[in-house]
Amino acid sequence: MSVPLLMADLVHLAATKSPESDRTWYLLVLAPRPCPAKPAEDAEPSTEAGDLMPLNDVWLLYTAPVEHGDFLRLLFEFGSRGALRWDLHDCYTVTEKSLGVGGCGTVYLGQSRMRLPAPKDTAKVDIPAVPQVAVKKLNKSGGVTEEINIRSEIEFLAVARGHPCISALFGVFCFHEVGSAEGRRGPSIRWTIVMPLYSEGDLFDYLAANGAMKETAAATLMLCLLSALTHLHRLGVVHRDVKAENILLANNKAVLSDVGIAAFLKDEEAMQRRVGSPGYAPPEVVTDLPYDEKVDVFGAGAVLYFALSNTLPFPGKTLKKVLELTARCKVKYDPALFGDFSGSIIQLLKALLQKDPTKRPSAKKSFKALWTMASQKPEIQRSSVARITLQAVDDFDSLAATRLESMKSNGHKPGWTAQMLAFIARPRFTGVTPKKFSWGSES
Ligand SMILES: Nc1ncnc2c1ncn2[C@@H]1O[C@H](COP(=O)(O)OP(=O)(O)O)[C@@H](O)[C@H]1O
Ligand SMILES: [Mg+2]
Repeated sequence: MSVPLLMADLVHLAATKSPESDRTWYLLVLAPRPCPAKPAEDAEPSTEAGDLMPLNDVWLLYTAPVEHGDFLRLLFEFGSRGALRWDLHDCYTVTEKSLGVGGCGTVYLGQSRMRLPAPKDTAKVDIPAVPQVAVKKLNKSGGVTEEINIRSEIEFLAVARGHPCISALFGVFCFHEVGSAEGRRGPSIRWTIVMPLYSEGDLFDYLAANGAMKETAAATLMLCLLSALTHLHRLGVVHRDVKAENILLANNKAVLSDVGIAAFLKDEEAMQRRVGSPGYAPPEVVTDLPYDEKVDVFGAGAVLYFALSNTLPFPGKTLKKVLELTARCKVKYDPALFGDFSGSIIQLLKALLQKDPTKRPSAKKSFKALWTMASQKPEIQRSSVARITLQAVDDFDSLAATRLESMKSNGHKPGWTAQMLAFIARPRFTGVTPKKFSWGSES
């Protein structure tokens, strides 16, 4: 049995305190939101948020008596698998410091309010207790459209979770904003996604501040990116917006983020839609041909080109010019910019930027080629980041296989399964008994 968590409203209350200890029985209510229908393209923006739709199933979960800290960790686990929480301001303080602005929202620095005692039974970082986080507040654009967009972003974050170079999901929250009901028929809600903080910002800003990268740094960056893409592609997910603004940096590691316009490879309609970002989108997208996961490989090539030269492969003053240059795909390698790099990294770059997607290597093949070449360098050999990218490519074969299996049985929806129950808080949490009652985005 599996309780669907993706976009399931989660509320909880403390039921009874255990007379013998300071543990409490809690009651959790999980109500999966029905997926709202997509409004017609010419329809007026809807004012009705999805929270007015009737609910189908509601799940009630009772816990065994647990300590408060363990209960908070359980809520966190549910949130990181896509359950929708309403207690953002109990968990985090959202500061006014903006970390970045994208097409879909603004990301702010947040501080955790959870004061958790250290867990007794794990040596791992206690994620719910990390002091600082990034909080992405989605723009307000109309209830149903926002809900459809965030549902998709959350779904892909939850599906792809666990890879060290893919942005993790800490939780999805919504709240009623003061004054936001003005002029609307029903209640209006504000959606937020909480993620780990990547303290060095995005690659675009890094290159603007520091100029082009040295070959070793660019190789480490690409090991991270290609390892992340290998994982996504194995899960049948195409990112569709690989670009410098969506690559975040922290502790010499690069992390792929913003799965806001990702799509499943098997979604034939999505694999024809012209989305992504001009300058990074490949010829097959700008010429409106059907495409596949190789669009991300091309995006990775544009990122490598940018990292090595601080210019994009198709520099045009207007959108029209960029698209024309992309469609032709005659990439220039100015010796003044690329002359100092090794032949092998230039060879990889040219392979990633191949016009014909069938000739472009897969993310995994590119990763392996880069690894073989880069691991000759002592700095890469010593780098723990480089090692984890390789380990992820090797280990995640089995993780992806398990994830694919559970996605098949669960219709792609991240759920809460018996396997996960074992993962949460083994001996102390065995008493849970579920009871059944166009650029589409230029972000
Ligand atoms: N976890 C994070 N840590 C630090 N900065 C972030 C984080 N997530 C996003 N940002 C910054 O915010 C910008 C916009 O975030 P993003 O998720 O790409 O939003 P959008 O979907 O609107 O493009 C990014 O380009 C980056 O500069
Ligand atoms: Mg973005």
